[in-house]
Amino acid sequence: MKVTVVGAGAVGATCADNIARKELATELVLLDIKEGFAEGKAQDMMQTAALLGFDTKIVGSTNDYSKTAGSDVVVITSGIPRKPGMTREELIGTNAGIVKTVCENILKHSPNAIIIVISNPMDTMTYLALTSTGIPKNRIIGMGGTLDSSRFKYQLSQHLGCSPSDLNALVVGGHGDTTMIPLISKATWNSAPVTDFLTEEQQQKIVNDTMVGGATLTKLIGTSAWYAPGAAGAALVEAIVRDEKKLFTCCVYLDGEYGQKDICLGVPVVIGKNGWEKIIDFKLNETEQAAFSKSAEAVRSMNSVLKTL
Ligand code: LAC
Repeated sequence: MKVTVVGAGAVGATCADNIARKELATELVLLDIKEGFAEGKAQDMMQTAALLGFDTKIVGSTNDYSKTAGSDVVVITSGIPRKPGMTREELIGTNAGIVKTVCENILKHSPNAIIIVISNPMDTMTYLALTSTGIPKNRIIGMGGTLDSSRFKYQLSQHLGCSPSDLNALVVGGHGDTTMIPLISKATWNSAPVTDFLTEEQQQKIVNDTMVGGATLTKLIGTSAWYAPGAAGAALVEAIVRDEKKLFTCCVYLDGEYGQKDICLGVPVVIGKNGWEKIIDFKLNETEQAAFSKSAEAVRSMNSVLKTL
């Protein structure tokens, strides 16, 4: 398997690091526009191979897409990250041009690649990647819900005093501070509903803290987070290259599912060798469905900005 990560910033490099440690690829290309940057990070990571014991060959490239040729999976992290106080939505003007160009270059050399989009605003960048390339919808996957669901499990684990990996919990909808929907009614601790163990007040706090999870870190760190975003990207790569058929929330093209059309939004999907293979219909309650429609409205209005660029 060959995997490319575009963008050697903190998220891209962390994603690549996870991919290498797990040996998800025989060859891993890290590409960046900044001269020597990807080569340097690739070399630094390769110098951990003897210590960590992995055999993935990591190659850096300064904007030379011929090195990415024949990639099975490509992760796009390019674009500017948000600064404290900024919303993901404010990045659209700059990042739309970058993501469109990256997609074109990738497909020139890897026409069959499955593309994972991490760049923000992720819902709109996923929609742009799909509509600008016209490749089959199952090959474009937005990462947001995978990350937000992991953050949701973290928040739940803090209140329950349990292991995050004992939890089943999904965040659907958009990947924005006000558009994501942590489905607490459906979250379980092994098979017991988490709501059995939490007060209304605790539940509300968990939901709120999950929604501003990214913004909280941006404020603390001074720039956008990278460990969990990078790990979420690598988890999706793993599900594809190992054909795991694992269930994740990902931002995918909806054609009537969850009452929405012509939009990419976070829903539960099965991930395997063909990309996202199936949308799973979680029966949302009335409040959740209303929140989903509202989230779609916000993302749709952001998508409409693409036409003005
Ligand atoms: C975050 C960015 C990656 O949520 O969207 O941290």
